[in-house]
Amino acid sequence: MKEIKAIIQPFMLIRVVTALHKIEGLPGITISEIKGFGRTRGSKEKELSNEGIYEFVQKNKIEIVVQDDLADTVVNTIQENAHTGNPGDGKIFIVNVEDVVKIRTNERGKEAV
Ligand SMILES: Nc1ncnc2c1ncn2[C@@H]1O[C@H](COP(=O)(O)OP(=O)(O)OP(=O)(O)O)[C@@H](O)[C@H]1O
Ligand SMILES: [Mg+2]
Repeated sequence: MKEIKAIIQPFMLIRVVTALHKIEGLPGITISEIKGFGRTRGSKEKELSNEGIYEFVQKNKIEIVVQDDLADTVVNTIQENAHTGNPGDGKIFIVNVEDVVKIRTNERGKEAV
């Protein structure tokens, strides 16, 4: 199992989620509002960032855990639909998941995703 953590531009969220919805067998999505900075330290995105010592930039994070065979499809869908070509487009991290527990049924692993 893989966890796909994507940090994307907030104005691309609806487009990305709409595309993800179309993936057959997608088990779920978690979305959160986050802030941070990348290599460019938000310097090219100052209009989007807060005042302060650090130039934090608002982003959205999408987290999806899938079985291995769906991981490439999910990553490619996010990459294609979150891309503008400008600094700050975000990143996709792909992480191995050790185990999953479904709380309602106490299923584990693949069955629980
Ligand atoms: N290595 C990282 N670890 C954790 N979070 C990161 C990392 N790189 C980027 N992020 C997060 O992703 C957001 C978007 O990063 P961003 O796309 O600006 O990266 P970048 O390296 O500056 O690339 P770009 O040149 O396209 O701006 C950041 O605001 C931060 O929240
Ligand atoms: Mg940047």
